[in-house]
Amino acid sequence: MSKILVTGGAGYIGSHTVVELINAGFEVVVVDNFSNSSPKAIDGIERITGIRPRLVEADCSDLASIRNLFSAEGNIEGIIHFAALKAVGESVEKPLDYYRNNLLSTINMMQMLKEFGGKYMVFSSSCTVYGQPDVLPVTEHTPRKPAMSPYGNTKRVGEDIIQDTVNSTSGVFAIALRYFNPIGAHPSAEIGELPLGKPDNLVPFITQTAAGIREKLQIFGGDYNTPDGTAIRDYFHVVDLAKAHVLALQRMIDGRSTSPYEVFNVGAGRGITVLEIVKAFENVTGVKLNYEIVGRRAGDIEKVWADTTLAQKELGWKTESTLEYALLTAWNWEKKVRGM
Ligand code: NAD
Ligand code: WQD
Repeated sequence: MSKILVTGGAGYIGSHTVVELINAGFEVVVVDNFSNSSPKAIDGIERITGIRPRLVEADCSDLASIRNLFSAEGNIEGIIHFAALKAVGESVEKPLDYYRNNLLSTINMMQMLKEFGGKYMVFSSSCTVYGQPDVLPVTEHTPRKPAMSPYGNTKRVGEDIIQDTVNSTSGVFAIALRYFNPIGAHPSAEIGELPLGKPDNLVPFITQTAAGIREKLQIFGGDYNTPDGTAIRDYFHVVDLAKAHVLALQRMIDGRSTSPYEVFNVGAGRGITVLEIVKAFENVTGVKLNYEIVGRRAGDIEKVWADTTLAQKELGWKTESTLEYALLTAWNWEKKVRGM
C-alpha cells in the first residue's frame, strides 16, 4: 500500500482528499500546523471512513521538523501538498508571511522527495495564475499572467519550483492541479469549510447569511460585462476536486505521465454568475437570501471558467455533482456546524 503525505490535510480541500485517498486504499499521513484548521477534521475523516489517518502537527516551512517527519515515517512515496495560506487580501497586507509560509513549504517538500527517495507530488495550484484571461474558457496553454497578489505569486512561483525540480531530478514526477472555485462539503456533513471570522469567499458567506450569522450578502459588482452584470466563476463540488487528486496520483504511480511535470485545470467547465448562485441556493434550500448589489471588490476579475478537456482525456476526470447538489451540501454543513 502506497504511503502518501498530505500537507494541510486538516484543511478544507485536504480533508476531503484524505477521505478519497483512504477510500482508494492509500495509507495516509497528515501534516498540519492548524493555522487555518482544527484537529477535529481528523475525527470527521475517521467517522466517514472508519480509518484514522496518522496526524503530525508540524510546520511545513520548518525544514528540521519536516525532515524529522520523513525520517520517522521512512517510506513516503508521494506528497499531496495543500499546506498554504490562502487569503488573497491578507497576502497584500503581509506579503512576507505568504512568501515565507507558502514558498518554503513547497521547497521543503521537493527537498524531502529528493532526500528520501519519494517519487510523486500533486500541487494545489489555482486559476489565479491566469488572471483575467483574454480568451475563455482557459486551457492549460492559456498564458499565465503576472500575479495580482502575493498569494497568486506563491502559486505561480510554486509551480515553477516544482517544475524545475522534477526536470532536474530523474524519477520524480509532479502534477499541478489548477483549481477553479471548489464549493460545498462532504455529503455526510462530517467535514467542510470552516472560515475563521468573516468569510472572503462567496458560498460560505451565503450559507452564513442564510443561517442568520451575517445580515446581508453583498454582491460585489453589478456592472460587469456578463448576462446579468455580476461576475462569473467556475464553481464545482469539493468532493469532485478531491477525487481529481487521487486520479492524478494514480496516473503517476501507473507510469502514465507524458512528462515529469504536468498541469491540469480542474473545474466544472462552465461559468456561473453570482446572481445565478444566489438563485440556485434559494431554489435548492428553500431559504430566501437577503442580498444587495454593491460596488466591485478591488482586485476581482470579471469572468473566468475552465476548459477541462485535458483532465477528462488524461485523468478520466470530470465533475459528477451538480451545482445545486454542491450548494445543498454546503448548506447541510453550515446547519450542522451551527446546530440547526
Ligand atoms: P485551508 O486553509 O482550509 O487548508 C490549508 C491547510 O494548510 C490548513 O489546514 C492550514 O492549517 C494548513 N497549513 C497552512 N500553512 C501550513 C504550514 N506551514 N504547515 C502546515 N500546515 C499548514 O485551505 P483550502 O481551501 O483547503 O486550500 C488548500 C490548498 O488549495 C491551498 O494551497 C490553497 O492555496 C489552494 N487553493 C484553494 C482554493 C480554494 O478556493 N479553496 C482555490 C485554489 C487553490
Ligand atoms: C467569487 C465571486 C466575488 C464574496 C478566490 C481567490 C482565488 C481562488 C478562489 C485560491 C466573486 C463574489 C464574493 C461576497 C460576492 N483561491 N463575492 N460577495 O474571487 O473567484 O477567488 O478564491 O487560489 O485565488 O481570489 O472567489 O469566492 O471570493 O468570489 O459578491 O461576499 O463572488 O466578487 O465575483 P474568487 P470568491
